[in-house]
Amino acid sequence: MNSILKQMHAHRSIRQYASGEVPEDDLRTALEAAQCAATSANIQVYSVIHVTEPDVRSRLVELTGGQEKVAESGAFLVVCGDTRRHRILAEQANEPIEESLESFLLCAVDASLFAQNLVLALESLGWGTCYIGGLRNDLAAVNELLNLPQGVYPFYGLCVGEAAEEPWKRPRLPLDAVFFKNAYASDAALLEIMNRYDDDMAAYYEKRGASGRRWIDQMERFFAKPRRTGDRTFYESQGASLR
Ligand SMILES: Cc1cc2nc3c(=O)[nH]c(=O)nc-3n(C[C@H](O)[C@H](O)[C@H](O)COP(=O)(O)O)c2cc1C
Repeated sequence: MNSILKQMHAHRSIRQYASGEVPEDDLRTALEAAQCAATSANIQVYSVIHVTEPDVRSRLVELTGGQEKVAESGAFLVVCGDTRRHRILAEQANEPIEESLESFLLCAVDASLFAQNLVLALESLGWGTCYIGGLRNDLAAVNELLNLPQGVYPFYGLCVGEAAEEPWKRPRLPLDAVFFKNAYASDAALLEIMNRYDDDMAAYYEKRGASGRRWIDQMERFFAKPRRTGDRTFYESQGASLR
């Protein structure tokens, strides 16, 4: 394996952090590398807010469902989709801004390609990271706290810092469950692979001291109820159109 592949295989989300900030230089180095990610038509519809105010970080702990790492990590970033710059340019040119489901998808895709490049760059510099989807628990409150202008869509947070734990690597599905040649797999084949993976995950949970937990049980319930049903209202109030 080359060093990049090794780095990718070494990924684990870090949830316990040593004290100490992440130096601005490292953040900037990683952010500039992250910006090298491909971006739809070079539109670069994303931005990042580095939250350094302790009071704001404490409030974000509450808003993310009590995730203390949001305050304890060495840096906390909020990754956003962002059509703000395009809005400014359109206004200057007297052109309309017609947001659509497609423009929102462009934001989500571009921001996530950027974010994952950022994670990889930070990990290569020796920092631990953890995405924080809990940021979407109460988007209106997050928005009020961060005072984001129209066209800026907070998607998730990212904790960065020195790892104070060495978590086991979380197994992934066998490639056969996600990679198909010419034809999609049959349901029976997928079920068989998922049952095997469920055993791998059971062994992983056992090592972590959570014996009895099963991946299939969790997944069976994952989409049982609609999740974060306020997302649409919030993003539309920020200027998105999800139609
Ligand atoms: C968009 C996104 C949001 C996530 N949100 C959270 C979160 O709010 N809290 C948390 O502890 N982990 C969160 N995670 C981490 C996932 O739980 C983790 O990546 C997954 O279980 C696989 O584990 P690994 O990253 O250690 O391989 C998130 C991951 C992603 C990609």
